[in-house]
Amino acid sequence: MKDYQSGIRHEDLLKYVREMEALCTPQQVHWCDGSSEEYRMICEDLVQKGTFIRLDPEKWPNCFASFSDPSDVARVEDKTYICSRRKEDAGPTNNWVDPKEMKAHLKEIFRGSMKGRTMYVIPFCMGPIGSPLSKIGVQITDSEYVVVNMHIMTRMGTAIIDLMGTDGEYIKCLHSVGAPLEPGQPDSKWPCNPQVKYIVHYPEDRAIASYGSGYGGNALLGKKCFALRIASVMAEEEGWLAEHMLILGVEDPKGEKTYVGAAFPSACGKTNFAMLIPPKEMDGWKVTTIGDDIAWIKPGKDGKLHAINPEYGYFGVAPGTNMKTNPNAMKALSRNAIFTNVGVTDDGDIWWEGMSKEVPANITNWQGLRHDPTSGKPVAHPNARFTAPASQCPSIDPQWEKPEGVPISAFIFGGRRSTTIPLVYEAFNWNYGVYMASTMGSETTAAAFGEIGKVRRDPFAMLPFCGYHMADYFNHWLQFGRNLTRAPRIFGVNWFRKDEQGNFLWPGFGDNMRVLKWIIERSRGKVTAIESPIGWMPKYEDIDWTGLNFPRDAYDRIMEVDREAWKTEIMAHEELFARMYDKLPKEYFFMRELLLSSLWRSPEHWYLEPETH
Ligand code: GTP
Ligand code: SPV
Ligand code: MN
Repeated sequence: MKDYQSGIRHEDLLKYVREMEALCTPQQVHWCDGSSEEYRMICEDLVQKGTFIRLDPEKWPNCFASFSDPSDVARVEDKTYICSRRKEDAGPTNNWVDPKEMKAHLKEIFRGSMKGRTMYVIPFCMGPIGSPLSKIGVQITDSEYVVVNMHIMTRMGTAIIDLMGTDGEYIKCLHSVGAPLEPGQPDSKWPCNPQVKYIVHYPEDRAIASYGSGYGGNALLGKKCFALRIASVMAEEEGWLAEHMLILGVEDPKGEKTYVGAAFPSACGKTNFAMLIPPKEMDGWKVTTIGDDIAWIKPGKDGKLHAINPEYGYFGVAPGTNMKTNPNAMKALSRNAIFTNVGVTDDGDIWWEGMSKEVPANITNWQGLRHDPTSGKPVAHPNARFTAPASQCPSIDPQWEKPEGVPISAFIFGGRRSTTIPLVYEAFNWNYGVYMASTMGSETTAAAFGEIGKVRRDPFAMLPFCGYHMADYFNHWLQFGRNLTRAPRIFGVNWFRKDEQGNFLWPGFGDNMRVLKWIIERSRGKVTAIESPIGWMPKYEDIDWTGLNFPRDAYDRIMEVDREAWKTEIMAHEELFARMYDKLPKEYFFMRELLLSSLWRSPEHWYLEPETH
């Protein structure tokens, strides 16, 4: 782990690092080389500090667990800012402060913030090295936890410095946990600032400053801050898309391959869907994984959409992950992984809710306390996560690092909705699909700080991640479609519809392949569909039911369009639109009217097979 700073010829980068060093006054500066030796040494250091618990090397080779501060467990949306020069460019769904004011304020906040710590410089690349779709960032951080997570989540180190040359473009990403150490002051195991947090983006400067948190999307700045918020601004300017989407490939029994992008809000099943294993009865169908969280998509000269996964690893939700729901994820995280806020046993094993039936004995919960089964408290935090290398996923697509990306043939949008929204439906056309995605709602999860289970509009699953005015983003999608000769079809899905007793109506997970198969066949123009008041739908016969007993009436129930519920739903669209009336695409008003009028002439309960009801 030798310091290679002397070899760096990028003047602007050296100046940036020098300035940040002068401002944050760390004890020392370490330029990360990205080597496995560096990874090993920093992990060792974290074990010494008590931040990391080394897991049983037999069961969990080269794996570590970590408990965060109880105040630092998820993204902090109320402390996330888009500081564009003009307030109207941030739009009504983002927090905004004048960038001049914010910079002056943050300068004081960051002053001396790294005292007693090491300042790490992490040059990283989002996307495969050498891909025309990739982009470079440099994160400065005082968190060792962040450094080792960045090792897994991004391509980083000397190779990136070489790529940058003397004047290569890069995104400036400043991060501090906001916990300076006075001489002799003992460090905490999870340093952070429980009182003061800022996740700040300057879209015009293409810069990020994050303070006070060490957790996930708040601190691994390549992910949400760069690859979504800043990249979405670049994408609008340059004519491409930066989306909160998984990318997967579907191979049919003949070996024909089709790729799709799917956007679901945080903790709504992207990782599971991206790594889906089809039911064994669906012989010959196979799903491969390109990415599980973020997609960068660009129109190519061939008229197709090309997509890459800018990430290098998974930062996935642990609870609920097991050998039944997601065996591919279980294998991906079986070695060289970092676990945050899961339970840890005395003998170096780990556990989370839903990993297996029985809670292991002698287990410490995510708060570092002995688990008390009578307390009703979970062992793992609901937003506990694993960090694992993407290359370890058994379903990883052979093309996942292809520089030109993979062609996208369909887009899927889905929220977590216990009522109203059917299992699957297809938009009548691109514009209507964009409307559908814009008005998507979802019940909130533990992935963001705040109330859980309330339906909120989450357009394109991008509400917390769009770096500019949401209505400008809608217009960008509409314009994007106008420029495509053959636009991908757009689908809506909902795995989460429940009956009156609160049971899921759909088995989900591997069985989602049945829905995916119909989607693939539709996008290849191979199957027919029925026109419902809200879009095209598969008939019962259009779905492959081999190996699953899912009767006709159950299917009818999960596909039902309830007129009154839909009217309420459409009124809720209005609420979102009212917030951005000034910039809303004119098409939306007409689309809403068309939807209302088609519901108006439909029966109170619309079924695919009305004669049986
Ligand atoms: P982020 O990483 O936060 O962006 O989220 P993600 O969309 O990748 O979330 P993930 O795949 O980790 O979602 C996990 C949650 O979705 C767990 O609560 C799962 O049980 C649930 N889930 C995933 N797929 C299904 C499904 O098909 N049916 C049901 N009922 N739940 C599912
Ligand atoms: C999400 O919340 O959508 C995530 C996790 O993917 S985090 O990276 O923490 O934002
Ligand atoms: Mn996400």
